[in-house]
Amino acid sequence: MSIHHIRVTINGKLYEGDVEARTLLVHWLRDSLRLTGTHIGCDTSSCGACTILVDGKAVKSCTMLAVQADGRELLTVEGLEQNGKLHPLQEGFHVEHALQCGYCTPGMMMAALALLKRNPDPSEQEIREGISGNLCRCTGYVNIVKAIQYAAQKLREPQPEQVPAGSGGGGE
Ligand code: FES
Ligand code: FES
Repeated sequence: MSIHHIRVTINGKLYEGDVEARTLLVHWLRDSLRLTGTHIGCDTSSCGACTILVDGKAVKSCTMLAVQADGRELLTVEGLEQNGKLHPLQEGFHVEHALQCGYCTPGMMMAALALLKRNPDPSEQEIREGISGNLCRCTGYVNIVKAIQYAAQKLREPQPEQVPAGSGGGGE
């Protein structure tokens, strides 16, 4: 049994640990780091429930060994929310009722995020292709597509300018 020491940045935070060469990335995330938002549906690269971003690209984390993540930047579903504010994709899935059991949802959102990073204004067909590696057994895909369209539109909207504190503008 060979053991390897790895250092991985996940959701902006550095994690390190010793892993067996055979340990799958999804098992390290869930069992060692307790990042259980990443789900396991099949373990055989079919369902997409385990999808995360590795250096900005969608990867099924059951298809990768933990040692292969050494030195990489990962984003899991836990990293979507920022400062207590839901990510537009999370909002979209809520507003458009895009889940029932929710088992596929983390992987679906991470696949959608990768799509929106490379194509901020995808057509319905492009969205369907973008999530074609992710299976949902409950909802059908109509509302999932709507949720991703919701997020795409929200992400394209100009963000309100941050006014630095003490710079005036509030009146006397
Ligand atoms: S658990 Fe990874 S694709 Fe199904
Ligand atoms: S909401 Fe149940 S599998 Fe997608």
